[in-house]
Amino acid sequence: MRKFIVAGNWKMNTTVPQGVELAKAVAEKSKELPANVELVVAPPFTHLVCVADALKGSKVALSAQNCADKEKGAYTGEVSVDMLVSAGCSYTILGHSERRQYYGETDAKLVEKVKLALAAGLKVILCVGENLEEREAGRHFAVVTEQIKNVLYQFSAAEMASIVVAYEPVWAIGTGKTASAEQAEEIHACIRNVLEEKFGKAVADDTTILYGGSCKPSNAKELFAQPDIDGGLIGGAALKADDFIAIAESF
Ligand code: PGA
Repeated sequence: MRKFIVAGNWKMNTTVPQGVELAKAVAEKSKELPANVELVVAPPFTHLVCVADALKGSKVALSAQNCADKEKGAYTGEVSVDMLVSAGCSYTILGHSERRQYYGETDAKLVEKVKLALAAGLKVILCVGENLEEREAGRHFAVVTEQIKNVLYQFSAAEMASIVVAYEPVWAIGTGKTASAEQAEEIHACIRNVLEEKFGKAVADDTTILYGGSCKPSNAKELFAQPDIDGGLIGGAALKADDFIAIAESF
């Protein structure tokens, strides 16, 4: 049985005290959620230790937004997977479109990062998604299929148990434009088929596939009602505890 997950990607928002306050509010409000929904928050690196402390005693999991593609050593400014684990993370997001677009994150680099993350015992939320130009050219299925094959086909069926996929159409991120439930569902179904081709039906059925891109309380219900949408990766709406929890309540 695959898990339903609602993950909040805080991006480069909040100071440490603001982040701790937000985490505490999420932890408090999460108590009323059904047990089959897992909540994850992904604050900036600087907040991880304090947020881990704020989440203690709750079931909200802690995620990083990225990790280094090297194990350790002379890589100024980078944060290793062991550091994330020691800070209390159980997840890391990888391959977010903002990292691909602004920081030159390639599929090849992502393979290295996913390897390190899994070896350290972290679960990975791997983001894929097409940009507006690719969507308008009708290439969205091809782009997403290629991203999935380039990265996830390098891993085993057993390793897939620690990997969550997030489909995030770049044109819908932070723009207020959401993919329609039909547009999202057809890509999610495609991703599940691509996973099935390599790993078999059981693994594909068990993989959690999240939707991300202007997901909010008003549209979450319709999106999450789709058979292949297993939750959301939430940006803007994750910065308000009430909205984030309302999204999780949409199942
Ligand atoms: P958004 O961001 O919800 O603000 O569109 C989603 C994401 O980038 O993960």
